[in-house]
Amino acid sequence: MKTIAISGSPRKNGNTEFLSRHALKAIEEEGIATELISLAGLDIKPCNGCYTCKKEESCPIDDDLWPVYTRMKEADAIILASPVYFGSATAQIKALMERTGYITYWNGRAFEGKVGGPLVVARRAGKSFTLAQLTFWFQIMGCFVPGSTYWNVAFGSHEKGNVEQDEEGMRTAWNFGKNVAFLLKKVKG
Ligand SMILES: Cc1cc2nc3c(=O)[nH]c(=O)nc-3n(C[C@H](O)[C@H](O)[C@H](O)COP(=O)(O)O)c2cc1C
Repeated sequence: MKTIAISGSPRKNGNTEFLSRHALKAIEEEGIATELISLAGLDIKPCNGCYTCKKEESCPIDDDLWPVYTRMKEADAIILASPVYFGSATAQIKALMERTGYITYWNGRAFEGKVGGPLVVARRAGKSFTLAQLTFWFQIMGCFVPGSTYWNVAFGSHEKGNVEQDEEGMRTAWNFGKNVAFLLKKVKG
């Protein structure tokens, strides 16, 4: 069994990666393999609405999407993590959701029955909206989304790693990770 977390921050080793690693550690403790994929430095363009994926499982946009899509398909659980950018999920994670979402939507719904959920980091505002954006994706994909002890949001500013100081946010991500592991074991038997 494997869980992947995808960080949609364009910044390497920032708060989104930090929070994602924390959740993954909780999952690893339960004997489940994990991997963190950072979209930082990757070229993932938005969907251009060509509808090629409606006919076949492919996307004509030539960028870094396909290896990430393949890893998502192989994983048993997927965590999508994003910092809040202008009250919203980042363009990077949105592009990933659009394209992987539409490719699977027309081609066998590969994410159906996977476990997953969102993680959100922000300095101040926009966390609930961004959490909803990410959660909507899991819902339409047919994923099972476990809860935690609070909504999966944490405070982190421009300083890399200071999300660690948000004790409740870190604990929420940790407990979310534990619930991902619990549910994954139930779903996968
Ligand atoms: C372009 C940009 C827009 C941002 N917009 C918001 C915002 O709307 N609300 C907020 O609370 N923080 C906002 N932030 C702050 C980030 O969410 C915060 O610094 C976060 O910890 C960054 O995560 P990272 O370290 O993983 O990149 C913004 C940061 C950037 C660079």
